[in-house]
Amino acid sequence: MKMRTLHFLCLLLILLFQILSGNEIFFVSSKCLDDQKSLLLQLKSSLQYDSSLSTKLARWNDNTSECCKWDGVKCDLYGHVIALELDNELISCGVEDLSALLSFEYLEKLNLAYNRFDVGIPVGIYNLVNLKYLNLSNAGFFGQSPMMLSRLTRLVILDLSTLFQPLKFESLDFIKNLTELRELYLDGVDISAQRNEWCQSLSSYLPNLTVLSLRGCQVSGPIDDSLSNLRFLSVIYLDQNSLSTTVPQYFAKFSNLTSLSLSSCNLRGAFPEIIFRVQSLEMLDLSNNKMLSGRIPNFPKNGSLRTISLSNTKFSGLLPESISNLQNLSKLELSNCNLSGPIPSTMENLTNLVYLGFSLNHFTSSIPYFQRSNKLTYLDLSYNSLTGVLSPAHFEGLSELVYINLGNNLLNGILPAYIFELPSLQKLFLCNNEFVGQPPIFDDLCYGP
Ligand SMILES: *[C@@H]1O[C@H](CO)[C@@H](O)[C@H](O)[C@H]1NC(C)=O
Ligand SMILES: *[C@@H]1O[C@H](CO)[C@@H](O)[C@H](O)[C@H]1NC(C)=O
Ligand SMILES: *[C@@H]1O[C@H](CO)[C@@H](O)[C@H](O)[C@H]1NC(C)=O
Ligand SMILES: *[C@@H]1O[C@H](CO)[C@@H](O)[C@H](O)[C@H]1NC(C)=O
Ligand SMILES: *[C@@H]1O[C@H](CO)[C@@H](O)[C@H](O)[C@H]1NC(C)=O
Ligand SMILES: *[C@@H]1O[C@H](CO)[C@@H](O)[C@H](O)[C@H]1NC(C)=O
Ligand SMILES: *[C@@H]1O[C@H](CO)[C@@H](O)[C@H](O)[C@H]1NC(C)=O
Ligand SMILES: *[C@@H]1O[C@H](CO)[C@@H](O)[C@H](O)[C@H]1NC(C)=O
Ligand SMILES: *[C@@H]1O[C@H](CO)[C@@H](O)[C@H](O)[C@H]1NC(C)=O
Repeated sequence: MKMRTLHFLCLLLILLFQILSGNEIFFVSSKCLDDQKSLLLQLKSSLQYDSSLSTKLARWNDNTSECCKWDGVKCDLYGHVIALELDNELISCGVEDLSALLSFEYLEKLNLAYNRFDVGIPVGIYNLVNLKYLNLSNAGFFGQSPMMLSRLTRLVILDLSTLFQPLKFESLDFIKNLTELRELYLDGVDISAQRNEWCQSLSSYLPNLTVLSLRGCQVSGPIDDSLSNLRFLSVIYLDQNSLSTTVPQYFAKFSNLTSLSLSSCNLRGAFPEIIFRVQSLEMLDLSNNKMLSGRIPNFPKNGSLRTISLSNTKFSGLLPESISNLQNLSKLELSNCNLSGPIPSTMENLTNLVYLGFSLNHFTSSIPYFQRSNKLTYLDLSYNSLTGVLSPAHFEGLSELVYINLGNNLLNGILPAYIFELPSLQKLFLCNNEFVGQPPIFDDLCYGP
């Protein structure tokens, strides 16, 4: 008897806990409203998709009553559908304006990315005024500036990126009303009509933006000072736009900046060193800007940088010893710059290194010991003036190492045998050095770039 009471109390407690913690799995998902279910089935039947490849739509069916548990569907506490995630479903449209979507008036999240709609952006979407997240990237939509989007004033995240289908916006006016917007992705959308006015548009309409992704948007420079108003920016991707300008120093004032990616932007002038020292910065990509000069400054303790890519720029001078302060550094790509002096031996303390590209510089020193960087997979030190002999402390035991290129340097001495026994190694280039006692297979190893 007592046992049973205890049992009952336990159950009651669990139930109470579920209520308090608002555990949706327990309550909500079992509650599938009939009208929402039939709307979902109506949507399904209005869409053309490849049922052999679909992982979500194809499995929605009348036989299962719990429509809120269907893949790609989420409901609120009352059973209203609030999220539809139908990305990567190979949908090739069907009903032209997706009118079946219109009826989901509670929808807050809609993801139709990576489908093959091949129609204009469906008008129905503009009536979903509760949307906070809209992802139509690479969905196959085409057309003009979606002015109607300005009705979706609750949007927080908007992704209209397009890699495959041309999409051209004459203006960015559709962002005017989107005061809640924090993340904007327009990669690949042609907004060349904006020239360099994109900065003013963004800073006046979206002062609180945190993510700005405009890769390959055909926008021009200079990067206007007005952009400095966007002080909450944490991610800036402007790669592949011919900005033909200098990098503004004010990027260093964005105190939450984690990623700055400006590759292939035709940048010029000197890169502001102070940006390297932004405490929150994790990724800096300035590669493929042949006119961009700069120096790598000293790094403070506890720097957050994980990726630094400066390849194909005019960066010159030394690689500072304080590079070892970047304890999380995993990718350092410096190939084809104008760096000189020693590769600092302090690099032996960078235990998170995965990728090192130092080729085509003027480094003159021995090679640092990488034995403690046991995640290292790629190492290219070719075309420098590196000297010295290879010892076990260089690479012995590095089980992840796939690629080593030491070609075209001044290395000498006897090649240690372990280097031929690295378990993951697939490519080894050693040619044009001064090694002695070359092993018989050496010829095979001498086909460098
Ligand atoms: C649903 O049930 C019907 C009959 O009740 C059956 O013919 C059909 O194959 C079922 N569909 C699925 C997808 O299980
Ligand atoms: C949009 O969806 C695609 C495909 O699922 C995803 O890769 C991308 O990160 C999404 N964009 C945003 C902003 O969430
Ligand atoms: C912006 O929102 C207001 C009120 O919500 C609306 O009257 C106006 O038409 C919207 N502007 C645009 C450009 O849609
Ligand atoms: C931006 O953020 C500030 C401070 O957090 C807030 O006062 C302001 O209303 C926000 N502006 C918009 C357009 O959301
Ligand atoms: C930085 O991010 C934190 C945490 O997200 C936030 O509280 C703070 O307001 C942000 N500050 C700026 C200047 O963006
Ligand atoms: C680095 O971080 C550690 C732990 O987060 C902290 O104790 C230390 O004071 C920091 N050092 C500097 C120079 O910021
Ligand atoms: C390094 O990475 C770890 C794990 O991701 C993180 O906790 C730590 O804060 C990072 N350190 C710095 C200095 O960013
Ligand atoms: C390369 O760097 C050296 C000094 O380190 C400098 O004298 C030279 O002008 C630089 N070359 C180019 C092309 O920037
Ligand atoms: C590596 O770090 C250790 C401990 O912090 C330090 O004693 C040593 O001198 C460093 N090695 C190099 C080459 O800087």
